[in-house]
Amino acid sequence: FWFLIGRRKRRRGEPPLENGFLPYLGCALQFGANPLEFLREKQKKHGHIFTCRVAGQYIHFLTDPFSYHSLIRQGKHLDWKKFHFATSAKVFGHGSIDPVEGNTTENFHQTFIRTLQGNALDPLIEAMMENLQYVMLQSRTSKLQPNIWVTEGLYAFCCRVMFESGFLTLFGTEFNSNHDKNLSKQETERAHILNALENFKEFDKIFPALVAGLPIHLFKSAHSAREKLVEALLHKNLLKRNNLSELVTLRMFLNDTLSTFDDKEKAKTHVAVLWASQANTIPATFWSLFYLIKSPEAMRAATEEVQTILESAGEKIGLDSKNISLNRKQLDNMPILDSIIKEAMRLSSASMTFRVANEDFTLHLEKEFYNIRRDDIVALYPQLLHFDPEIYADPLTFKYDRYLDENGEEKTDFYRNGRKLKYYYMPFGLGIAKCPGRLFAVHEIKQFLTLILSYFEIELVDSNVQCPSLDQSRAGLGILQPTNDVDFRYRLKFL
Ligand code: HEM
Repeated sequence: FWFLIGRRKRRRGEPPLENGFLPYLGCALQFGANPLEFLREKQKKHGHIFTCRVAGQYIHFLTDPFSYHSLIRQGKHLDWKKFHFATSAKVFGHGSIDPVEGNTTENFHQTFIRTLQGNALDPLIEAMMENLQYVMLQSRTSKLQPNIWVTEGLYAFCCRVMFESGFLTLFGTEFNSNHDKNLSKQETERAHILNALENFKEFDKIFPALVAGLPIHLFKSAHSAREKLVEALLHKNLLKRNNLSELVTLRMFLNDTLSTFDDKEKAKTHVAVLWASQANTIPATFWSLFYLIKSPEAMRAATEEVQTILESAGEKIGLDSKNISLNRKQLDNMPILDSIIKEAMRLSSASMTFRVANEDFTLHLEKEFYNIRRDDIVALYPQLLHFDPEIYADPLTFKYDRYLDENGEEKTDFYRNGRKLKYYYMPFGLGIAKCPGRLFAVHEIKQFLTLILSYFEIELVDSNVQCPSLDQSRAGLGILQPTNDVDFRYRLKFL
């Protein structure tokens, strides 16, 4: 009981402490309502490091980007795994994936790096390019008629296209040859994936509540949605599919050989991968396309870049001709799209980096040091950095070329107090726990934009539409979703 209402007293050498007013919750409600505002206010009051009591935990926030590095430098006192493992088990319902607990000896992070980066990235990109075109064009020929505008919500469109293509890329196809020409099989496959999308959305809605510790049994329809996703990803069902990615094949093998998980638990680890691969990518794709359509300058520059790259690759666009294919090198040579995607993510990302102190230790920052107690959390909230007007002038405005230098190449020098920053862009986290799918994520969004600009004319239904607000209920969890959808229309460019 004392733990619930008890407030810690600040000891000598510790950062300034905010206990908050509420028993147990401490600052949780103020933080939850608007984390950015809350942290800015505390930063003004206490300086660049302070401690907040949030739902029984003590979190030390580091707000000076020049101190971010200390999290890496002093990694031996800070654990990144326990928190991740515990959250994954809580949210997806599998047993502990911490090797210490004995259910598995798989090093998940290694599996992800091995199957999402390096040479493994090429087949993923290739499959995604094909799947995106299948989903955008071939599977929709009945709806896409020359000169006919199709109107749809932009978020709904990004969600459908990215989920379907990403799902096919990681979890393969249901029927034999890739994208069977048999229409009824196509329809069946589509219906299954769109059904999985509905389940994904239903489950994703309560994701923040599950992270906060509420049991899934409180949410009947989300629970049943998760169970349906689990059913679809049971090994016996995955084994019936073709073209599974290396990621899924290797994870299945390691589930079977290194873990004591039962069939359902194994499937739950695949639901976790499905969620990680989609939950941030979908809103990031939305914001990239939304800002692109809203900015005529960005649209002009991006269209020109896409045309140049297609010409240099000898690619022609037409519904009858073969699919456009661009390899990794060609995609890596598109700095304007890179800058647009980065800028869209700068504006919409609200991830939070956590580390847990595995012992009492002294945290050395640039100039001073602070005592940290065991089990306390040290956290970064990079939105503070992304919205810092000293680093990014006019920080709430989308500037498509913000990450381009005077030669039109990637800009990497950003300054604060006249000093060059090492960390200026962090939607993928930092250090050892950095998102292993980040390269694939940026490539798939770039492929999506390239194909949209190649095949379609697009416009907003209301060209003066306001930029939707960021849904703060997911603050801390990654790319924020828009609070409302925006209608747009598209039609085939040619014929
Ligand atoms: C973890 C961001 C796309 C796979 C993470 C983390 C962040 C993140 C912030 C946590 C890092 C930390 O705790 O410090 C994003 C964003 C994406 C994206 C912004 C898209 C725009 C993807 C994709 C995949 C993926 C496409 C896979 C295909 C993962 C996995 C983890 C992860 C497996 C857990 C890593 C681990 O615990 O070892 N991501 N991600 N992500 N992401 Fe991503």
